[in-house]
Amino acid sequence: MNYRHAFHAGNFADLVKHATLTLLLDALTAAAAPLTVVDTHAGAGGYDLDGELARRTGEAAQGVFRLMAADDAPKAFDGLKGAVRAGNPGGGVRFYPGSPSLIAAALRKGDRYVACELRDDDVALLRETLAPFPGATAHQTDGFAMAERQAGKGGRLFILIDPPFERGDDYARIAATMASVLSLDPGACVAVWLPLKDLETFDAFLRSVEPACRDLLVAEARLKPLTDPMKMNGCAMVIANPPKDIDNPLASACAWVVERLGEPGGRAEVWRTGA
Ligand SMILES: C[S@@+](CC[C@H](N)C(=O)[O-])C[C@H]1O[C@@H](n2cnc3c(N)ncnc32)[C@H](O)[C@@H]1O
Repeated sequence: MNYRHAFHAGNFADLVKHATLTLLLDALTAAAAPLTVVDTHAGAGGYDLDGELARRTGEAAQGVFRLMAADDAPKAFDGLKGAVRAGNPGGGVRFYPGSPSLIAAALRKGDRYVACELRDDDVALLRETLAPFPGATAHQTDGFAMAERQAGKGGRLFILIDPPFERGDDYARIAATMASVLSLDPGACVAVWLPLKDLETFDAFLRSVEPACRDLLVAEARLKPLTDPMKMNGCAMVIANPPKDIDNPLASACAWVVERLGEPGGRAEVWRTGA
């Protein structure tokens, strides 16, 4: 496992993923009943954008630095922007919240957060990030297997699946996990982050998950035409059992990312299968 998210923290793809995550958490915590959140690929929890790894790629310059300097970002980014401000009380944009920081901050009394990470270094950082939150636990274990173990236990379930896509079987494992979780808990909300490289891979993935998902929302941010399959030309969120009324906020977030951070020929779109 070579992937470390610190190289990519706060890039355009994180903006799409984390704006979506805050919108989902807002919607899912609006209901009183307790919520269990499983983060199958949690990473370190939060990131120092002044650190060596982040500075080596400089990806945040075309991501969160642009977002925080913008005065035209849609409301869909308010949750993420608020979390960035909270993590940098002295001002500036040095610390960027990963999915664990965003999820842990949204937990209410009685909610649970199960965060999974395989790497020794990142799981140690994850444990530090989650230490102040009694409802949150970090597990050095395979996140796909943990998601299946948590399904069907009763209560409301939200699963975030955000693999590094450095293994050939990541797409197949996501589809298998979604099918298994949704067979045990048909009402679970499952959100998946995907890179957009070429349309064939993306279409094949959607076809593979559709049979298990009654209600599927797809949010695409193509920063450029998908003509070079060797590059990450954009990203997408695919959400089973999405909360209602999330489509327009997601569309506005994707559109802002494409228009402000993309190239000519980019496209933002939010749609539901069968709709
Ligand atoms: C894209 S990063 C996660 C970023 C995080 N979700 C965020 O938004 O802040 C993917 C992480 O998954 C970890 N990982 C890879 N395979 C895993 C597996 N099968 N189970 C749990 N973690 C895994 C990697 O070490 C890496 O830290």
